[in-house]
Amino acid sequence: MIKRYKYGNMIETEAILAKPELSSDEVSFLTVNEETKTLFYKMTKDDHIYGLGEHVRGINKRGWFYESKCRDEPNHKEDTCALYGAHNFLVVDGEEQFGIFIDYPGIVSFDVGYTRSNDLTITLSDWNFDLYMISGESLKDIVKQFRQLIGRSYIAPLWGLGHGQSRWGYVCADDIREVVKKYKELELPLDSVYMDIDYMDHLKDFTIHPERFPEFPKFAEEMKAQNIRLVPIIDAGVKIEDGYSIYEEGAKNGYFCKNADGSIFVGAVWPGKCAFPDMLNKDAREWFGNNYKILLDQGVEGFWNDMNEPSIFYAEEHLQEIQKHADSYTGNQLMIDHYWTYKSMFDGMSNNADDYKRFYHNINGEMVRHDKVHNLFGYNMTRAAGEAFERLCPDKRILMFSRASYIGMHRYGGIWQGDNRSWWSHLLMNLQMMPSLNMCGFIYTGADLGGFGSNTTEDLMLRWMALGIYTPLMRNHSCVDSRRQEPYLFEDIDGFRHIIGMRYKLLPYIYSEYMKAALDDEMMFRPLAFEYPDDPLAARVEDQLMVGDGMMIAPVYVQNAQGRYVYLPESMKMIRFKKDGTVDEEIMEKGHYYVEIDLTDVVFFVRENHVIPMSKGGLRVDDVDFENVELISYVTAEEATYEYYHDDGLSKDYENPANRTILRATK
Ligand code: GLC
Repeated sequence: MIKRYKYGNMIETEAILAKPELSSDEVSFLTVNEETKTLFYKMTKDDHIYGLGEHVRGINKRGWFYESKCRDEPNHKEDTCALYGAHNFLVVDGEEQFGIFIDYPGIVSFDVGYTRSNDLTITLSDWNFDLYMISGESLKDIVKQFRQLIGRSYIAPLWGLGHGQSRWGYVCADDIREVVKKYKELELPLDSVYMDIDYMDHLKDFTIHPERFPEFPKFAEEMKAQNIRLVPIIDAGVKIEDGYSIYEEGAKNGYFCKNADGSIFVGAVWPGKCAFPDMLNKDAREWFGNNYKILLDQGVEGFWNDMNEPSIFYAEEHLQEIQKHADSYTGNQLMIDHYWTYKSMFDGMSNNADDYKRFYHNINGEMVRHDKVHNLFGYNMTRAAGEAFERLCPDKRILMFSRASYIGMHRYGGIWQGDNRSWWSHLLMNLQMMPSLNMCGFIYTGADLGGFGSNTTEDLMLRWMALGIYTPLMRNHSCVDSRRQEPYLFEDIDGFRHIIGMRYKLLPYIYSEYMKAALDDEMMFRPLAFEYPDDPLAARVEDQLMVGDGMMIAPVYVQNAQGRYVYLPESMKMIRFKKDGTVDEEIMEKGHYYVEIDLTDVVFFVRENHVIPMSKGGLRVDDVDFENVELISYVTAEEATYEYYHDDGLSKDYENPANRTILRATK
């Protein structure tokens, strides 16, 4: 049951399209205090808190302070409070079990037992929001009700679940040709190559560099003939340049965010000075979305939306203030206090909170200061694209995922987990974030495999890939100044071929589970507690997950480890796919084990009386035979069944009953 409460007058987010009637009951569980702008809950020692979407730290969010404040945070570490997305949904699991959603587009903080170990305090930056309290029979039920409330998740094309190679630094068509050639020569599976900002003409959205990518439509065709899709990036900032049609159109029609005096707000991003399309203005959104057609018409079928927190390296006006201030120090010795001030002026130049107060959106004719609606920007950039795709190619799925997000955006695209690093801790974070993102409707998601920033190592890459084979978005992406990390550059090519190849073998299961999670408002990745609510040990497991209906995974995320400890909450069959092509199976009873896992082993656990459909694999998703699947199972009853979802992967005939069949396995 969902109860809705309203405080003040919220700026509409459209996170929820069909709002339930307001409840006249008292709010249960929470103390609501308008004076302190807080919602408070006294946790018991054993309460677990799940959710909050994209954040650092564990599956259980207790013991830290988090903020919903979309933020470009490429150096995120354990003590980071805010990342790229703002997802105000959490579930309390303990003596009481309930979900809370705070629909509010400004900054919200969540002190989850950080200041005082049993206090959960949610603080809003102003008192205009809707509160939803959700009760249900179980954790899964609460999440499902929430998901039904926020509407069906975006659905990616099947090829978007193939393996993608990306790198900031493929500067011309030949660089991409080389990647595809290497993959082909070494028989490494691949479905897409991502195009980072290098493809643009002087970093301008919706342009293609004429010399680096001459005759782009032909190039896209050449790739498509090899079943490779090109996926270009689109940035939020539009370069300010006379003669650049996108800028000129936006300026002429008043589609950019404005300063208080009505002039265009200027902030710098990759191309230098930029204007920011007013994604919250319906007409501007329609205009921005229509521009994707420029690339769709040239053979592109997917995009990633970036820098849409929005990320601002510096605001023009702010920079001038800093420069003036800095000049006042010229010739003086910087005493310590001055030194700190001086330094922090420059350190705080990017994504500065004050800069977010300098510009305005036109929301249905009303000028709204950006900081009041900050968390809606990336959401509405992706919505601009999603709505345009509906107009431009209503029957075809277009790949779309974004960096920034708010709940509601999940209907228009997936997200990737932003600029992580080639750190073992970020591999674990990738795993831990999956269920909390799924709770908030983001099913098409994954992290930059191998790590975006810093230098990766071959073992990290292999271990990370061994997790990436389960995540719907499976993309190897890295930063221009980091060590290159295409699999063919490492020693153990056979190992990479085996692990990536396992994705294609598992695709019937992964795609089926992905689609069912999206269509039926389920979580594809679940903490063990969601599946084994009566097992207190399961609730404490922070590094294993249920993937879909029948599988548990336990990735290795420690360097030089030969394996790891695994907790089995019930009897399961461990399956080990080895690089040499052999497969080991072992039935294991409930309990704790140390499981050896070689660097190139793919190991997962099948639940009792469950079935995993697999294929023979392939080098492209198109090669995968989804019809004649082989069943991996652990059957102790007469038979075990599996609801198998399969469709053409490209059109939108989701409800066709023929897409769902029952597979049966016997003892
Ligand atoms: C941002 C993105 C990253 C991309 C880079 C250059 O940092 O998060 O994925 O490679 O910009 O476009």
